[in-house]
Amino acid sequence: MSTKAYPSIRMRRLRRDAFSRNMVRETSLSAANLIWPVFVIEGERRTQAIASMPGVERVSIDILIERAREAASLGVGAIALFPVIESAKTPFAGEAYNDNGLVPRAVRALKAAVPDIGIITDVALDPYTSHGQDGIMDDTGYLINDETVAVLVKQALTHAKAGVDFVAPSDMMDGRVGAIRQGLDGAGFIHTKIIAYSAKFASAFYGPFRDAVGSAGNLGKSSKETYQLDFANSDEAIRECALDVEEGADMLMVKPGLPYLDILARVRDEFKMPVAVYQVSGEFAMLKAASANGWLDYKKCLMETLICFRRAGASAILTYGAVDAARWMKGES
Ligand code: PBG
Repeated sequence: MSTKAYPSIRMRRLRRDAFSRNMVRETSLSAANLIWPVFVIEGERRTQAIASMPGVERVSIDILIERAREAASLGVGAIALFPVIESAKTPFAGEAYNDNGLVPRAVRALKAAVPDIGIITDVALDPYTSHGQDGIMDDTGYLINDETVAVLVKQALTHAKAGVDFVAPSDMMDGRVGAIRQGLDGAGFIHTKIIAYSAKFASAFYGPFRDAVGSAGNLGKSSKETYQLDFANSDEAIRECALDVEEGADMLMVKPGLPYLDILARVRDEFKMPVAVYQVSGEFAMLKAASANGWLDYKKCLMETLICFRRAGASAILTYGAVDAARWMKGES
C-alpha cells in the first residue's frame, strides 16, 4: 500500500452518500437498450408455458400484439421473433421463405398494431428443418454452406417484404451477411438493417431455447460445432466480426452473454460500432432456478447482469427479462 495515497485519498468518500454514488456512476441502462426475444405459435388466444424458462410463454400472434403493446409502452427498444413451427419441417426448410408463413404474418400484424417498437427476425433455418440443424445437409450430415446461404437470402427477403426493421442472421454460415445485404439491396430494401450474430459460440447454454422452439428433439445428440464458434477462441471471434463488418453488418452481436464478457469488451474496443449481446436461455434459466430456490434475488441479479453488459460495451441486450427490467426501471413491481 502506498502510504502517500492513504490517508489523504479515501475511495469510500464518494461511496458514502447516495447522491455522490449516483453522480459518479459510469454506466447507465434504459429500456431503449433492451431487446425482448419472444416465441410465436400458430392459432388464436394460445399460450404455452416453457418448463425450462419460467415466466416465458409461446404465444399466438393476437396475444403477442397485446404483449408487444405493453413492452412498447414501457419503452422496450425492440422485439426479436422466434417462430415455433409445429408442422412443415423438411430437410430443405422451404417454409422459411413462405411469404405467408408465421414470421411474415407476425411482422405485418405487429407493424400495423404496434408501430413504435422495433422488430427483429431471426434468419436461420433450424425452426424449419426436420433435423433441427441450421442449414441444408449433404449425404454425410455436413451442412452445405453456399446452398444454405441461398435459402437464407430468400428468407431475409420474405421478412423484408413483410416490413421487418432488422434481420438477424444467426447461423454462422460463411458469407451470409454479404449475401443477405446484396439480396436486400437488389430488391430495393436499402433501409432494412442487419444485426449479425457475428460471435456466436457453440454453447450448451442454448438448451432451454431448443426446448422452447422444439428443435431439441429433432437435433438429438448432434451438435453445431461445425459452424458455431469454439468457446475456447477469442481471436477467431474477432475475425468473424471483422468479416461481418466488411460484408455490411449494421450491428454485431456476441452470444451467449455473461461467460463471454471478455469477447464483448474486445469487440466493442476493436470495432467502435454498436454491439449487441444475447443473455441466452440458459443464463435466464439459471437466474430463475436459483431465485425459485430462494438462493438469488432474480430482480437484483437480472439488473446487475444488464448493467454489466452495458459496462462491457453492449449497446443493446437481448434478454428474456426485458419487460421485467423495463417495469422495474419505471418503478413498477
Ligand atoms: C438458432 C438460435 C439459437 C438461439 C437463437 N437462435 C439456438 C441455437 O443456435 O441452437 C439461442 C437463444 C437462446 O438460447 O436464448 N438459430
